[in-house]
Amino acid sequence: MAVGLRGFALRLLTEAGVFSRERIDRGTRLLIDHFEVCATDRVLDLGCGYGVVGIVAALLAPEGSATLVDINRRAVELARQNVALNNISNAEVLCGDGFAPVRDRTFDLIALNPPIRAGLAVVHRLIAESRDHLAQAGRFYLVGRTKQGVVRLSQKMSATFGDVCEVAKGGGFRLYRAEKTNSDSC
Ligand SMILES: C[S@@+](CC[C@H](N)C(=O)[O-])C[C@H]1O[C@@H](n2cnc3c(N)ncnc32)[C@H](O)[C@@H]1O
Repeated sequence: MAVGLRGFALRLLTEAGVFSRERIDRGTRLLIDHFEVCATDRVLDLGCGYGVVGIVAALLAPEGSATLVDINRRAVELARQNVALNNISNAEVLCGDGFAPVRDRTFDLIALNPPIRAGLAVVHRLIAESRDHLAQAGRFYLVGRTKQGVVRLSQKMSATFGDVCEVAKGGGFRLYRAEKTNSDSC
């Protein structure tokens, strides 16, 4: 598919068996339209699917980098192809469960459109572990469908991070952001 996002014209390969193969998911678009990426940010696209979030993040962070992770091998292969197709030189794509492929690394921004089908325990784990993989003042963004319980997920974010704000909503989706603050760094 061909798509314009944040002023970038992208070409994206998709396949059966990956999330939202026909078009960019509305939640994904809400996330991409509203996440604030600094030029030097190190971004993690957690559960990257065919890679659109991480690719836009890499373009918004030309002096930083994007790391894309997914547990699904087919998604990882597509994301790698899409990184190459869009001439992205500051992104890498890794296969694995959650933070396993980036065990010792921290990021300035983590973006998650959570795998609801994987179950609440997995989604809660990804939220909780995100905090451990953020640098101080790092931001965590989570988007989800209101009808699929994203407000409850924002409460898990509050329990993990403290303050959470709703950045945007529309089309039945809500986008939340939390920040890793200094207050509990001792
Ligand atoms: C809702 S989709 C989002 C895909 C992509 N970020 C987007 O917005 O189009 C969730 C993705 O998480 C992946 N996933 C599921 N469980 C995972 C896990 N434990 N670790 C990493 N990725 C996982 C799925 O394969 C799927 O691609």
